[in-house]
Amino acid sequence: MAGRLVVVSNRVGDPRKPAAGGLAVAVGEALAASGGLWFGWSGKVVEQGDSGAMHSQQSGKVTLATLDLNAADHEAYYEGYSNRVLWPVFHYRLDLADFEAGFFEGYQRVNRLFARKLMTLLRPNDVIWVHDYHLIPLAAELRAAGCTQRIGFFLHIPLPPPLILAAIPAHEWLMRSLFAYDLVGLQSEADVEHFSRYVKSEAGAEPLGDDHYRAFDRQVRARAFPIGIDVNEFAALGETAESMEIRKTLHEQYAKRQLLIGVDRLDYSKGLPQRLRAFRRLLANYPENLKSATLIQVATPTREGLNAYADIRRELEGLSGEINGEFGELDWMPVRYIHRTLARRRLPGLYRAGRVALVTPLRDGMNLVAKEFIAAQDPEDPGVLVLSRFAGSAEQLREALLVNPYDTGATAEAVQRALRMPLGERRERHQALLTRIREQDVHWWRISFLRALEEAERAPG
Ligand code: G6P
Repeated sequence: MAGRLVVVSNRVGDPRKPAAGGLAVAVGEALAASGGLWFGWSGKVVEQGDSGAMHSQQSGKVTLATLDLNAADHEAYYEGYSNRVLWPVFHYRLDLADFEAGFFEGYQRVNRLFARKLMTLLRPNDVIWVHDYHLIPLAAELRAAGCTQRIGFFLHIPLPPPLILAAIPAHEWLMRSLFAYDLVGLQSEADVEHFSRYVKSEAGAEPLGDDHYRAFDRQVRARAFPIGIDVNEFAALGETAESMEIRKTLHEQYAKRQLLIGVDRLDYSKGLPQRLRAFRRLLANYPENLKSATLIQVATPTREGLNAYADIRRELEGLSGEINGEFGELDWMPVRYIHRTLARRRLPGLYRAGRVALVTPLRDGMNLVAKEFIAAQDPEDPGVLVLSRFAGSAEQLREALLVNPYDTGATAEAVQRALRMPLGERRERHQALLTRIREQDVHWWRISFLRALEEAERAPG
């Protein structure tokens, strides 16, 4: 790729702090490989005055350029339209969406501000890669401001079926905005299928073949690029002194136990109450797990200003208390619930100590915890991944034990099977999964997206 890479995302990962969520980790890794500019929100909300104060900082080969938002913009654009409209709807949760409150103008205003500020930093040969649902209309705003560089978009969350999308009052405007990009990347084939059906049925688009679509007098290419991890980097992280130490401590403390591990942002899309209910069912139906199976659930705090997140936290805390009260003994507590962000460097040790990982979202764009768990295992004695069929990664990770997280009984059965799985089968499954995550790792993701962006025909107009 000839030009400089310019990445734009709402969250810009500060390399010195732990990142929450797959986007910051994957984008950070992709950028570290090529160098370039990373542009987005500073994470700072100023109470008074205008949005738009800029900061710049160098981190290795990457320049981080970020801007502050004022309280009104942050509320309308981030908490409001992004996280009370787009996030729930794109995760199929129309019941949690709030269309009434007029967040839409704030979303447009901040996207326009991002475009205006970014224009001052661009060079003629730059290649621009925009990420996620906060910034869907950014290319349209950039084009309106005269930007002619190539622009690609990647959606990290699921794209729901047309009739769910159509519940958003501004859905046509939103989807038309995608046609200002030269390439739209989605996580899974299911998402591409939804895109294709939407543009055909709602926008009368012509599929031109070879992933190209024409609508709104423009042409765009849309394809699945399932995001991956840096397998070697993550495995190497598992060999550090700190990782070894965690492994050793967990080993000693839980020598006679079987550890089940869950690591998620505390989000309603992650299916955490359903997971705990399945665990309770496991203990009730298979008493041999009493005083043995221990679930360590790390739930990273996230978007705490929003009611839906306070509700899910309360529900989860209630459930862990109930299960511990019902089954716990003086020397054994079935659920260890941790409501904190764990430093990334501590994760491989935790994953490696796990006999089973529970990755059971109700809906997820991809889910990189599933891939990190596989990368962290000892191939000679690997743990088992229990994975929701509604995570984007289920399209790739067929050798995991796939479950329907809404079905508590069936999930409990799958966990029991995972706990009892013979070594030979564990090794075979792990080997196949490891090969898959190596083939489509984060480097493959970046290179194949940027190559497709380079090749995408320039949209007319
Ligand atoms: C998901 C989204 C990201 C987001 C992350 C953390 O991974 O796809 O866009 O950055 O969650 O959420 P937050 O609201 O803290 O940025």
